[in-house]
Amino acid sequence: MSNESLASGIAGRAALSRMGGKDIFTKTTQWTLTDEARAMGMYPYFRALDMNQGPEAILEGKPVIMFGSNNYLGLTMHPKVREAAANALREYGPSMTGSRLVNGTLRLHHEFEEKLAHFMNKEAAIVFTTGYQVNLATLSGLLSNKKSVAVMDKMCHASIYDGVRLAQANGAQMVRFHHNNAEDLDRRLEALQPDEGALVITDGVFSTEGEIADLPGMVKAAKKHGVRMLVDDAHGLGVLGEKGRGVCDHLGVQDEVDMIGGTFSKSLASIGGWLVGPRKALDYIQHFAPSFMFAASCPPPSVAAAMAAFEIMQEETWRITKVRENAKYMRDELRKMGFETGPTDTAIVPIYIRQELTTVAFWKALLEDHGIYVNPFIPPGVPPKNSLLRTSYMATHEKHHLDRGLEAFQKVGKQFGIIS
Ligand SMILES: Cc1ncc(COP(=O)(O)O)c(C=O)c1O
Repeated sequence: MSNESLASGIAGRAALSRMGGKDIFTKTTQWTLTDEARAMGMYPYFRALDMNQGPEAILEGKPVIMFGSNNYLGLTMHPKVREAAANALREYGPSMTGSRLVNGTLRLHHEFEEKLAHFMNKEAAIVFTTGYQVNLATLSGLLSNKKSVAVMDKMCHASIYDGVRLAQANGAQMVRFHHNNAEDLDRRLEALQPDEGALVITDGVFSTEGEIADLPGMVKAAKKHGVRMLVDDAHGLGVLGEKGRGVCDHLGVQDEVDMIGGTFSKSLASIGGWLVGPRKALDYIQHFAPSFMFAASCPPPSVAAAMAAFEIMQEETWRITKVRENAKYMRDELRKMGFETGPTDTAIVPIYIRQELTTVAFWKALLEDHGIYVNPFIPPGVPPKNSLLRTSYMATHEKHHLDRGLEAFQKVGKQFGIIS
């Protein structure tokens, strides 16, 4: 399988979808890319772990060091987090079997909402079922007619794109500004009509590259034009800011950003999502977003686990310090070795390989020859020629884990001619 066939195989999905007449499954049998990649042992996705212990895991019977998870504070293993989930499971069961709107809300959801709003210094909060749902619901609920404009960074997360696409179905417009470029944002806002209501949307920490958004610049542009702003801080909570409050606090714009959203599935060691902001705006969203109103609520064990993690994050602040130190150590050492890691300053450290097939081969060598688990990102997950290995670090990685990783990165980097 050549590099071209990998790339064109993905791009070729559109062509396949035009073949096969009325049978929608025809394209699925003609799409053989994943079968070929699997046959060659070059398919990195949907691999099942036998055990996940945080920094160490077992993948298909083989121990690996985990540099591919978002368990930034290492809290999935914390006894209090596990106990909270187990107690909630015993008390309330595995699911509320209903949406927040009707029978799916527990006092537990409200309790966590109050804590989140207080900690983030905002009027109100909503607990969602996933972080993905936060963006689907917030954007489609708020941007619901022809006079609504989503003004978003080009490199926003897929969930933001999908939320805006849902909004577009109701007539809203999508305007994209150059990546992390507040001047371009200013120009786009300048071009809006006076009767158009806009929401500026960006990731606070870009999820693949680990880059921090220029929020002070974007806030300035938003204020200048009198428009509101939403920051998705999935990867900032627990890593940046005082007590892990996140990227807005870190950059001194916590009070200027109107709404901040995120997930329980990273630092908070669970699954679910959160949004904080003005009470009236949140109340509106929870009555105008079908993807929230007609989906089952975040299950009690997940809420309880996230709330326990949220409290531990504020108590055991050494975890925040440690995840930052670990990521800095890796960034510095990888850069010294000659790897290209981009402008990251967070727990996410990309290693740019650029060439697609080499990225997959690099991933395979790390895993099979060295027991190092990382995530390869190739198009369409990243722009063409931007293929990379996404590595991410935890508070619970010890120096010996990091050094084993560095040794492997260096060996494989030299083997593939990425570094000299
Ligand atoms: C920036 C960003 N927003 C939203 C999400 C979705 O969160 P979840 O996976 O918890 O649904 C993610 C997850 O990768 C993310 O990185």
